[in-house]
Amino acid sequence: MLSVVFVCLGNICRSPSAEGVFQALIDAAGLTEQISVDSAGTGGWHVGDPPDERARRVAAELGYDLSAQRARQFQIADFDKFDYVIAMDRSNLDNLHRLGHGEFSGELGLMLDYAGRIGEEVPDPYYGEIEDYYHVFDLLKPAAEGLLAHIRETHTI
Ligand code: 4NP
Repeated sequence: MLSVVFVCLGNICRSPSAEGVFQALIDAAGLTEQISVDSAGTGGWHVGDPPDERARRVAAELGYDLSAQRARQFQIADFDKFDYVIAMDRSNLDNLHRLGHGEFSGELGLMLDYAGRIGEEVPDPYYGEIEDYYHVFDLLKPAAEGLLAHIRETHTI
């Protein structure tokens, strides 16, 4: 079983959305038993909370169900549990690099790199408007597709 965890700051907006989009792609590809998906936040303020109501509402409208997700904080032990650790922005990526001390043997990546948008970030919508949540999903979809293609090619699945 390959495993992927998406990481943002609060684990209530961007990374739960990425988890929902990626899970739907995996299910549609018939890879549910071969790739597991999770998400986490580098911060701990929202631990135990469901995703932001705006993220859930936009997700539902687009056909993704985030309602069972609950926020958790990324743990150093997660580096041992996951093959792919995918950050939503450079600040989260930097924090993960610091936490991992370069010891991680899997792939630590930036989400939009997988859409060919090298170095670009999924902007934090938390203090924004509902349009910002739609924008997050617009960015996530091609990146999730690119990530899945990359994983399938790397592991020939
Ligand atoms: P996320 O958005 O990182 O996409 O989940 C945020 C949610 C909450 C906070 C910041 C970002 N916060 O500061 O509480």
